[in-house]
Amino acid sequence: MTIHIGANPGDIAQTVLMPGDPYRAKWAALNFLNDATLVNEVRGMLGYTGTWNGNRVTIQGSGMGMPSLSIYANELITQYNAQTLIRIGSCGGMQPQVGIRDIIIAMTASTITSPSSGILREINFAPTADWSLLRAAVTAAEAKGSTTHIGGIYSSDVFYSERPDLDEQLTRHGILGVEMEAAELYTLAARHKRRALAILTVSDHLQTGEALPAEDRERSFGDMVEIALQAAFPQS
Ligand code: HPA
Repeated sequence: MTIHIGANPGDIAQTVLMPGDPYRAKWAALNFLNDATLVNEVRGMLGYTGTWNGNRVTIQGSGMGMPSLSIYANELITQYNAQTLIRIGSCGGMQPQVGIRDIIIAMTASTITSPSSGILREINFAPTADWSLLRAAVTAAEAKGSTTHIGGIYSSDVFYSERPDLDEQLTRHGILGVEMEAAELYTLAARHKRRALAILTVSDHLQTGEALPAEDRERSFGDMVEIALQAAFPQS
């Protein structure tokens, strides 16, 4: 047990999928894993461990925003020995060619500030995905026929941005979408020599104002779960 995760040692698999929403963790575990068992419910941040094609997997909610994800990812890495951490979540589209429901696989995650800024200080660190996971996720997404974009995203501290000028500069520099967790996940993975990736569905678009209808969210989320599992276990 850690401060925020009630699982016993050994209850957490070396491969962890991390949706922001704990109920999404439950839904994914019950729909995609065999023998899914609840391993954490501290603060309602549900986590389940089961198997996929014979491989052990944990699906653990991260909460919203980098400070919350940082707590769970730190404990998963340092206390439970998680080796592969894949965020599955949503993002806002920032380029005209990026449409609602499209998948973004984040090669890099830019940020202004993250929980790691305190130790990186003056360094503009470039949080980067694990190449082997990225390559396997792209292969899986393309095999599925999903419209997929691969490139840089922006991890924001705010959902309700009051800085249109910032969004404009990010779009100008080719950033595909905005979410709130990946930069810290990539930075922690780098620090602890683990593998990390963020796979995102475009749920809304900053320029067009379009948003994914609620009834489509489940299917899009399911596609991401499958891509994440195939990326984690490419030979399965
Ligand atoms: N901004 C930040 N995070 C998000 C968004 C957004 O527009 N959409 C989904 N996650």
